Amino acid sequence: MLLNRCLFICLILMAVSITTLRAQEAAHDHGHEDLPSLGIAKIIPTQGNKVRGILRLVQKGDQLKVIGRIYNLTPGEHGFHIHTFGDQRGGDGKSTGGHYDRHGHDHGAPGAKSHAGDLGNIKANDEGLAEVNVTVEGTALHFILGRAFVIHAAKDDLKSQPSGDAGARVATGVIGIGNPDFVWKKPE
Ligand code: CU
Ligand code: ZN
Repeated sequence: MLLNRCLFICLILMAVSITTLRAQEAAHDHGHEDLPSLGIAKIIPTQGNKVRGILRLVQKGDQLKVIGRIYNLTPGEHGFHIHTFGDQRGGDGKSTGGHYDRHGHDHGAPGAKSHAGDLGNIKANDEGLAEVNVTVEGTALHFILGRAFVIHAAKDDLKSQPSGDAGARVATGVIGIGNPDFVWKKPE
């Protein structure tokens, strides 16, 4: 009789725990449809510089694109990276840390074998405008939200360690979730 009662209680406990497990699984079975697909970064100058711009990020399936315009650059190429921290304290951009590196890679040209934050160079025309339209490899928007774009004074040579010898940081922009209600406007 006592044994039967124990068995009965045991069965009830098992049923309850299985039901709880199923409910937890169902709650997590949501795919990735709630991950953000639009990002935005307002690029602002570090101390003593005038570089400004807007960069939009668009995640479509596995592909992440960065599209936008950067103004007031010196003509020519400028190192362009995602750095680890979205931290703009100080006037020199250094609080953003080093290049965002998901997999313990070395610095290099954009691609699956270099830092996820290695975006190569952007090229400014004679008016100092760089049109940006690049595909980012090795990461996705939700991994870089809250980190920062950094634009450098000099060209990234795509090989020097740890950051391509690209010189001072002339502008930074923290990556946030984008408002779909976006209208292009030249930044002041
Ligand atoms: Cu950089
Ligand atoms: Zn790098």
